Amino acid sequence: MKFFIDTANTDEIREINNWGVLAGVTTNPSLVAKEGRDFIETLKEIIEIVDGPISAEVISTEATGMIEEAKQFTSLSDNIVIKVPMTSEGLKAVKHFSANNIKTNVTLVFSANQALLAARAGATFVSPFLGRLDDIGSDGMILIEDIVEIFDAHGLDTEIIAASIRHPVHVLAAAKEGAHIGTIPYKVFKQIIQHPLTDAGIERFLADWESAKK
Ligand code: E4P
Repeated sequence: MKFFIDTANTDEIREINNWGVLAGVTTNPSLVAKEGRDFIETLKEIIEIVDGPISAEVISTEATGMIEEAKQFTSLSDNIVIKVPMTSEGLKAVKHFSANNIKTNVTLVFSANQALLAARAGATFVSPFLGRLDDIGSDGMILIEDIVEIFDAHGLDTEIIAASIRHPVHVLAAAKEGAHIGTIPYKVFKQIIQHPLTDAGIERFLADWESAKK
């Protein structure tokens, strides 16, 4: 499983990118609004930091509006991926983008049938939302399992992005289920890099090293 970061905060992106593990970035309107910055300026900065797919989400609900909005985003870099909602208008737009070699990420996917529709429309990526399913008492991981099975069975090359990841267990389970990508919030990156035994081990090694010198 590859790692994307799910944020519009460029300090967070820069820090995790320095770990050498970042393959891409996803943003959404809520994440962008949280930063209170101009979206295009933010995208330009992200493009400078990360060499990989960067999802920029459209706000329009009509395919024509999505296509119009996408023009500004795609003019910034070949790495821009147009993030489109899982609606009939969204699929219509995906078909258009796919015919014009523009990469897409179909977002707000909550069922395997939706993922299959998105893949058949030509989506580059689909984003099933794990955490939001868990929030309503469903099991988000079953959705990943189903999509992996269906895409494998039919030889679909649309990549599955495990999204709405809330904690380290989501990361582990998504990787085990075969999600191609996990888009991880900064906070969860900071959690998964740590282990108390790693910290204790370093402390012990350093202490032993110091005492051996005496
Ligand atoms: C994915 O692309 C979305 O930006 C994100 O994962 C949504 O996560 P949330 O449910 O925590 O808002």
